[in-house]
Amino acid sequence: MKKKIIVTGGAGYIGSHTVVELFNAGFEPVIVDNFSNADKSVVERINEITGSNITLHEGDCCDEGFLRKMIEAEGEIDGFIHFAAYKAVGESVKKPLEYYRNNFDSLLIVLKVMMDSSIPHFVFSSSCTVYGQAEVLPVTEETPVQKQESPYGNTKKVCEEMINDAVNSGAKLKCISLRYFNPIGAHSSARIGELPLGVPQNLVPFITQTAAGIREQLTVFGDDYDTPDGTCIRDYIHVVDLAKAHVKSLEYLEAEKSENFYDVFNVGTGKGNSVLEVIKAFEKASGKNLKYVIGPRRAGDIVQIYGNVDKANKLLGWKTELSIEDSLRDAWEWEKRLA
Ligand code: WQD
Repeated sequence: MKKKIIVTGGAGYIGSHTVVELFNAGFEPVIVDNFSNADKSVVERINEITGSNITLHEGDCCDEGFLRKMIEAEGEIDGFIHFAAYKAVGESVKKPLEYYRNNFDSLLIVLKVMMDSSIPHFVFSSSCTVYGQAEVLPVTEETPVQKQESPYGNTKKVCEEMINDAVNSGAKLKCISLRYFNPIGAHSSARIGELPLGVPQNLVPFITQTAAGIREQLTVFGDDYDTPDGTCIRDYIHVVDLAKAHVKSLEYLEAEKSENFYDVFNVGTGKGNSVLEVIKAFEKASGKNLKYVIGPRRAGDIVQIYGNVDKANKLLGWKTELSIEDSLRDAWEWEKRLA
């Protein structure tokens, strides 16, 4: 029998790609989403890609009664992957209490109902944002976690601590937090991808919208940083590679003998690319010239970060398979499909 995995936020950007990869790996993913930042058509498109009919429960993870009913209806559940959370750094500064309430409550309630129902496996969406601007690069999982610059970052940091405390309490829980670097790209079918609301804040959706003529030009936020070409450096990972890390994490937790377990893993490519390198790679992958100007620095940007991913390579048996050109080609195919 297929192992059933509840994917909260399963209609979102990373969640939807993870549902597909879980299905491909022989799991039975079940989507829980309140569609506060996702479109219902995503579920139909996941079904097209997988040729299946994935179960959907529409509701909010802060609603304990809803989750309990969902668990009762689903019967035997092997684990949860918890994506459902607010995720915009800038917005979190303006609405801190909403971020704390949503991101903390949903995690607390998910863990509580899991423990009450003896559901053993849990994978949590964390972020490289917990490292802030690290002094030594690449960052490893031993790199100290920093005081956070935004309520969003703080929710990720504290949520990791909450999971650790729950495991240390002796609860029968086996948990992994994945610290994502910068996910980009889309499924190679171009049926699912990122759906930014309004003007994109992130680099790659802004690039693809500019190439599609929706935005006039891209502004590169600063070229006077202390990096080889003066622009900021990030670790851009294809969303499908990132999705596969969740599958490997679940398999790892299943093989884990002890009943209490918690660990964190970096999930990136291990390589940093500057903003100008991303632009060049996009131009190569799409065959389009991108209109861009150099503008001032963006407040709050860290100069550079990229991850050491040896731990995930060795312990999870996971590695990236797709290049930055693959990511940008798929992001462009997805953008064209949206037009
Ligand atoms: C990347 C680079 C910008 C837009 C995001 C999330 C964060 C974390 C990681 C989850 C930076 C530059 C951008 C533009 C530009 N994810 N840029 N012009 O800042 O690394 O953060 O991913 O936890 O929460 O917000 O990603 O895509 O915004 O920026 O020059 O129009 O592109 O300055 O150097 P960032 P990003």
